[in-house]
Amino acid sequence: MAKRESIEKRSWKPGNVLSPVPAVLVSCGGTVEWKPNLITIAWVGNVCSEPPMLSISVRPERYSHEIIRTTREFVANVPSLRQTKAVDWCGVVSGRSLDKFAGAGLTPAPAQKVNCPIVLECPLNIECRVRKTLELGSHTLFVAEVVAVQVSSALIDAKGRLCLEKSGLLAFAHGEYFALGRRLGRFGFSVRKRTRRLSR
Ligand SMILES: Cc1cc2nc3c(=O)[nH]c(=O)nc-3n(C[C@H](O)[C@H](O)[C@H](O)COP(=O)(O)O)c2cc1C
Repeated sequence: MAKRESIEKRSWKPGNVLSPVPAVLVSCGGTVEWKPNLITIAWVGNVCSEPPMLSISVRPERYSHEIIRTTREFVANVPSLRQTKAVDWCGVVSGRSLDKFAGAGLTPAPAQKVNCPIVLECPLNIECRVRKTLELGSHTLFVAEVVAVQVSSALIDAKGRLCLEKSGLLAFAHGEYFALGRRLGRFGFSVRKRTRRLSR
């Protein structure tokens, strides 16, 4: 039996060290009262499949917090590597004083079910309606139902499969942006039987 390598551990300060996470461009506003805005959110995740739901965690001092709390709608736009600079920029400036769509060179386009625009350049646009709001402390958790999804047609192959892996997704880890690396296996590969190659 192979000898286990010895791994030493140290205690670390409890904190938000979970990595990697996605970084999405959340669009909101787009009503008579609220102009469209964008906010970069890394604290985003799927939380339920039936109904499909996701959550975003937003600090109350963000301009977008006010918009989402009032309108109860947003779109989680999943960016590709091409939008990395826009992702960073929308996460360091506030829409209170400027138009982030124009400033980032991104195109607002109509959503199917919500009032806020989608980001046309992002390969995946997830339209959401807030169902629950939880004040957690530093952040408010908006738990939302996915009411519509738009994908770039170029990512759908001839058989109708969504090839999201071709869109060049990005990840955020420990304060830095990364491109996804090489594919390591498909879901369940660890238990799948290997098919023996037939010898000719
Ligand atoms: C990579 C990245 C991830 C971020 N994630 C979050 C987040 O999950 N929640 C949050 O409240 N702010 C987050 N921010 C900060 C906001 O995006 C930033 O404060 C933004 O300027 C707020 O814009 P607004 O005032 O127009 O709403 C993040 C910023 C960056 C660059």
